[in-house]
Amino acid sequence: MPALIPIMGARVISFYPMATASQRSLIMTARNLAFLALALWLGTIAVAGWLFVVGRTVPASDGRSAILLTPAERDVVLGEMRAMLASVQGIASAIADGEGERAANAASAVGTGATHAVPATLMAKLPLEFKQLGLGVHSNFDTIAVAARQGEEADLLLSRLADQLSQCVACHALYRIDPEP
Ligand code: HEC
Repeated sequence: MPALIPIMGARVISFYPMATASQRSLIMTARNLAFLALALWLGTIAVAGWLFVVGRTVPASDGRSAILLTPAERDVVLGEMRAMLASVQGIASAIADGEGERAANAASAVGTGATHAVPATLMAKLPLEFKQLGLGVHSNFDTIAVAARQGEEADLLLSRLADQLSQCVACHALYRIDPEP
């Protein structure tokens, strides 16, 4: 890239044959700055893209990947987790009581609508696979809500809930949260 900048600059100069030497050097400087800005911008996008995929993780002592978060960010994630556990409890008890509407409400509470509260800075620290698993679980809750509201049979609803729980288990086997150093 540094080798390219003078070459591109020289090519631009040839478009201005009437320019004085000082005007030419100004054009060169402006052009070089523009290329530098472009390079920095592309670099930022590359880093942001890289972070979006890998997040901020280190191998943990128990073989899982530890996502490194601040205490406040950890609180956000764990708060969301406890809400999902409460919802799973609500769905199971509503199915046992044959109350489809109550099961639907419990599921909707943690559907995709519940994901908008996650700050962008926290999103950037979560690996792509974690985000995919998380979004999948939230959207499964939406599907469970629709099925329960339509009065689906208890055994079918229960089997949806069992599938959903296997997603919780899968993610917990892969990730944990450790404090940022
Ligand atoms: C995308 C990954 C992921 C999914 C999906 C997921 N969890 Fe979690 N959950 C985690 C992580 C990471 C932790 C922190 C575990 C640790 O640090 O050891 C956690 C912690 C928890 C905790 C502990 C909360 C606390 O206050 O300590 C509960 C409860 C929980 N999850 C419930 C669930 C339930 C129920 C589901 C499914 C409906 C679920 N989770 C789905 C990643 C996930």
